[in-house]
Amino acid sequence: MTTDACRTCPLDTDKIRADFPILAKTLHDGVPLTYLDNAATTQRPRQVIQAMVETYEHHYANVHRGIHWLSDQSTDLYEDAREKVRTFINASAREEVIFTTGTTGAINLVARSWGDANLGPGDEILLTEMEHHSNLVPWHQLAERTGAKVVAVPVTDDGKLDLESFDRLLTERTRMVAVTAVSNVLGTINPIEQIVAKAHVAGALVLIDGAQSVPHRAIDVEALGADFLAFSGHKMMGPSGVGVLWGKRELLEAMPPFLGGGSMIRRVRLDGFEPADLPAKFEAGTPPIVPAIGLGAAIDYLGAIGLGAVAQHEHDLTVYAHRVLGELGTLRFFGPPPEEKSGIVSFVFENNRPHAHDIAQLLDRHGVAVRAGHHCAMPLHKRFNVNATARASFYLYNTREEVDRLAEALTQVQQVFRRRR
Ligand code: ALA
Repeated sequence: MTTDACRTCPLDTDKIRADFPILAKTLHDGVPLTYLDNAATTQRPRQVIQAMVETYEHHYANVHRGIHWLSDQSTDLYEDAREKVRTFINASAREEVIFTTGTTGAINLVARSWGDANLGPGDEILLTEMEHHSNLVPWHQLAERTGAKVVAVPVTDDGKLDLESFDRLLTERTRMVAVTAVSNVLGTINPIEQIVAKAHVAGALVLIDGAQSVPHRAIDVEALGADFLAFSGHKMMGPSGVGVLWGKRELLEAMPPFLGGGSMIRRVRLDGFEPADLPAKFEAGTPPIVPAIGLGAAIDYLGAIGLGAVAQHEHDLTVYAHRVLGELGTLRFFGPPPEEKSGIVSFVFENNRPHAHDIAQLLDRHGVAVRAGHHCAMPLHKRFNVNATARASFYLYNTREEVDRLAEALTQVQQVFRRRR
């Protein structure tokens, strides 16, 4: 199989790949690693790894606690990382940027803190059939605690949100609309600007799950006007264990603290406490200091390349992948047409033979890493009458040659199964 050159590709992938030690790995028999599992987690460039090593070797201490110079250095680096996040998403104030453990931690924070304080029987949380479990389960738990109800917008056959149903289900009972900007299975890019505008007219708040969008396309929270945004460091070349909750200042100020402990207090008495100001109010305990600094370095790396170029590169790979995988003639794809979606390609073989798990296992023998399963989106898989899909997902360092390797490996998988039958 020969690769068609990409004439409009905006990225120098050779140069980029040289920054990622892990991508040069070969597996058994010298088979190169073809890492196509970026929606699950991305790899890190040396610049991010070095920023963390440098901190541990020269600047590490606890933050916001010490009087000593090392603690000052660590605190400065940690707060610099917050400022980098603020600029990256164009938030108006650093107080609006809360470091969490990840997207899941951020959504749980809102569901617990805002949700418990504000919702009760008769209230509704409107989410969608394409949500990741992390934007479903915290709302179910909230509903169980408060008597509020979870309502879901259905997905159309071509993997888009059914916007007519959204309009119908958004009512005066809706208090929160919780929606992903990009589906982690379908790659669907949801019209979040439209959703925010409509939700606000209806008097509801909006939480955007940005786990699959913030690493890939620019977001401006000021312009978007949403109320909360959640995303993870490890899906954008930062470390795991750190994520971000951005929220509008007046909302965060009115919300009670979620976790209690050190750092989140102004004063503690034996009979009570007063919470600290933002952002400390929501950062109880020792925060993910070095992971946050690593995330700051990942933002620097992404900023130098430009998210516009990243999105264009992934778009090229997605369209190319649909073309070459489509040539097999036996795959069923999920989601909107490739021109309209993000860099996520989920598929099964027709008649589900071989099963998605077998596909992933056999691809692994060719060094191709994809995810198989329900991708933490069981209701969505039920909607499409499958219990598992195989998923290839791209990032800035992937190439058309890697897509060819995936296609070639899938051809061989197909042949193995044909022989077995
Ligand atoms: N949320 C990650 C995924 O979709 C883990 O694979």
